[in-house]
Amino acid sequence: MAEKNAEVMEKIVSLCKRRGFIYQGSEIYGGLAGVYDFGPHGVELLNNIKKSWWKANVYDKENYYGLDTGMFRHSRVWEASGHTSGFSDPLAECRECNTRIRVDKELEKAGVTADEKMSEAEINTLFDAHRDAISCPKCGKKDFTPVRAFNLLVKSNLGDFTGEGTEPVYLPGEACQGIYLNFKNVVDSMSPKIPFGMAQIGKAFRNEISPRNFLFRTREFEQADTQYFVRPNENKDAYERIKQERWDWYLSLGIKEEKLRFKQHENLVFYAKDAWDIEYEFPSGFDEIEGIHDRSDYDLTQHMEFSGVDLRYTDPNTGEKYIPWILETSMGLGRVFLAVLANAYHEDEMDGETRVVLKLAKHLAPYRAAVSPLLKNKPELVEKAREVFRMLKKEFGNIAWDDNGNIGKRYRRQDEIGTPACIVIDFDTLGEENPEHKDTVTVRDRDTGTQERVHISELASYLMRA
Ligand code: GAP
Repeated sequence: MAEKNAEVMEKIVSLCKRRGFIYQGSEIYGGLAGVYDFGPHGVELLNNIKKSWWKANVYDKENYYGLDTGMFRHSRVWEASGHTSGFSDPLAECRECNTRIRVDKELEKAGVTADEKMSEAEINTLFDAHRDAISCPKCGKKDFTPVRAFNLLVKSNLGDFTGEGTEPVYLPGEACQGIYLNFKNVVDSMSPKIPFGMAQIGKAFRNEISPRNFLFRTREFEQADTQYFVRPNENKDAYERIKQERWDWYLSLGIKEEKLRFKQHENLVFYAKDAWDIEYEFPSGFDEIEGIHDRSDYDLTQHMEFSGVDLRYTDPNTGEKYIPWILETSMGLGRVFLAVLANAYHEDEMDGETRVVLKLAKHLAPYRAAVSPLLKNKPELVEKAREVFRMLKKEFGNIAWDDNGNIGKRYRRQDEIGTPACIVIDFDTLGEENPEHKDTVTVRDRDTGTQERVHISELASYLMRA
């Protein structure tokens, strides 16, 4: 089973490169671990996921405000948030081959749970007690250095022209801090009534010790976050509603419900009221794609204390001042992208051949349709096909032109990209053989392979409906 799953993952990784979804970062220089680039089809799928998320979290709401905040933030931000002191993973190094391991993950593989709040001394004790069970993943030896807490923040030298900067500016360890920093700005400029939310998609950077599983754990990634501000102690109902909304959003992407599950955190940080993850069953097993956190007033209290700026909300009716509590949703776009791909990946038989097909939801597919002339060396077919292509491109934007190879090859290629419909302009379209078919085209459905003749004048509305 594990082998089969690894094989599926390999097939997805290879399809991603072959079909222009994902490339290894800096590949021509040998690659950069934990960094990936989105290719022409990947960026379309990614943007469609983002559009769907933005619609669900901003446009479909009446009281959510969108933001796009700067990536560089004052170094005190990360002190206030606790990232400079507590945002670390336990690291040990193999004395034989210098491979670095993330100790909590290796302990987990050996069936030992390491609590993420453990101190360096505590995790060393736990590691020492189970050293026999842990081998270096590269050389197999069991000789490791002591564990040290390795901070995941990535430093920059922004504004430090002498190299002596004592207060480094970090790249964001998480996107959501930009929302907290602008809480007062949004309240002052938009006068929102509590409860209200803010949403943003932003980059995050973490010096992950062992990036793994393709897009699952990377060093550069994007997060889509919402923060919902409520009156103190008015968190519970809103939290349950948000959990349900997030679950429903994944179903709206076409993700099979049996591939999703909720998992409650067992060990909460001291300020948290509750925390759940939504997990997806990747080929490697169930793992987190989104965290939903009931965080009390911690974030705004910390920033109020560190900045000295009053971040309390004033009730417009009573004048009462208080620090709102926050309900956070934080989703990794790379992980959702991978879940969507794994969910859509199918191999089946069609026209007597095995084919690979991405059964992507239509609103996520990189192209809504592909347009082809039956033969590319017949100018009258090409001209008509170009006309149809231009018309649909004006309407939808994401329409592919495909005249490479024979029709069968084009279908296979578009199936692999997940294009829901292939439109072919043939001699019937020109009215040469069956005058009653003049100005009709064939539309082939990706999932069933069935073909329908549709009049060109109906094509756009057909694609919108289908
Ligand atoms: N502001 C809360 C926060 O950042 P998190 O659990 O550290 O919480 C939220 O991250 C989400 O970001 C995760 O559920 C995951 O989808 C994604 N994520 C975290 N680390 C990641 C990594 N190294 N690579 C890819 N995605 C990651």
